[in-house]
Amino acid sequence: MKIAVLASGSGTNLQALIDQLHQDETSGVEIAVVISDRRKAYALTRAKKAGIPTYVVRVRNFPDRDAFDAEISKILDRCEVELIILAGFMKLFQPAFVRKYRNRIINIHPSLLPAFPGAHPVPDTLAYGVKVSGVTVFFVDEGIDAGPIIAQVSVPVFDDDDEESLLKRIHIEEHKLYPQVIRRYAAGMLEIVGRKVLVKES
Ligand code: GRF
Repeated sequence: MKIAVLASGSGTNLQALIDQLHQDETSGVEIAVVISDRRKAYALTRAKKAGIPTYVVRVRNFPDRDAFDAEISKILDRCEVELIILAGFMKLFQPAFVRKYRNRIINIHPSLLPAFPGAHPVPDTLAYGVKVSGVTVFFVDEGIDAGPIIAQVSVPVFDDDDEESLLKRIHIEEHKLYPQVIRRYAAGMLEIVGRKVLVKES
């Protein structure tokens, strides 16, 4: 299955997908393209090192967000992508884009949704004082971090955690969970029933 990974930042999740899926022929997953909205995203360097085609699509180069989305859509369709993976992609798509790729966009978020959605989940988690946080992988819908949840893993929050220490613990789980979920999607094991995502054993 050809997938696209969209990333704005350092791309440690992309790296996990390269190592555990793209470079494992038994995974059935090929990262056909990596797209970023930031020219300097280190994710682009990681993709190039792995020989994966990259594109930069910047919001400022388009008259509006529909035009930005359309450019990304053009690349995805040209690369015959079947699944879109958001991995630290810091732009929201318009509803028309989500409708076009319904149930074919997956995102990862560093909290146990529906707790702490939005752009600052880790500081929000620490500020609230919860004892448990984690990782959520979900299908993207028209809401913000609101679509059907595919998988979650918890991590403890310690009294002396700061953003760096908590994020480090979360990243360890992200890098295991994201490849596992995508492998299952590619194997046809995920079924969406209303808000629930069922995992069928193959
Ligand atoms: C991850 O923590 C992910 O949960 C969030 O953005 C971060 C991306 O990190 N959506 P990286 O660029 O993969 O290192």
